[in-house]
Amino acid sequence: MSPRAPDPAALDVATVAARCADLDEIADHARGCVACVDLVANRTTVVAGDFPPGARLLLVGEAPGSQEDALGRPFIGKAGQLLDRLLDEVGLSRAGVAVANVLKCRPPANRAPTRAETTRCRGWLDRQVAVLDPPLVVTLGGTALGWALGHGVRLMDMRGRVHEWAGRRLIVTYHPSAAIRFGPAGAPMAALRDDLRLAAETLCTS
Ligand code: URA
Repeated sequence: MSPRAPDPAALDVATVAARCADLDEIADHARGCVACVDLVANRTTVVAGDFPPGARLLLVGEAPGSQEDALGRPFIGKAGQLLDRLLDEVGLSRAGVAVANVLKCRPPANRAPTRAETTRCRGWLDRQVAVLDPPLVVTLGGTALGWALGHGVRLMDMRGRVHEWAGRRLIVTYHPSAAIRFGPAGAPMAALRDDLRLAAETLCTS
């Protein structure tokens, strides 16, 4: 067997280890957060996110649902299962992709996060992005779009292309829950699939 050529985008072991340690520290601090009284009273866990060592793509969702809250990991319920399937389809394994939410705690009864909650919580995600330093970020749904680009833009106007954003690349797309809600033949499913394919292609050149 001929030796594999080194991947020019791969990080050295020391850098990956240092980032993992910093991400663990952020997660530890987030677990002690009591900034949102309503959320603290209802949460089972704080869902800090999945950060596989050396991940170059970060997917950003809205907030944990009931299964995520119970098990402490993002996107493991119905929306997560769809996400995993679509990632597989475009050749991106979930095991190599970082996944986090704007809000680290589950809103009671799965209500939408309030603007005050996302404002209080965004520091955790901002720090995770700074440490992970992914060349590509994909936002899933309106809350994550608001975190990245502010609340004055429409998802349908921004999706389907690659944006330059804070020194990295950004792709905006629908939340998997929207794709489930509109069904397999609905526009959000097709858009989400296309945008994840665009993410896979973009990662090759990032
Ligand atoms: N929806 C999200 O936005 N995040 C999760 O982790 C699960 C469902």
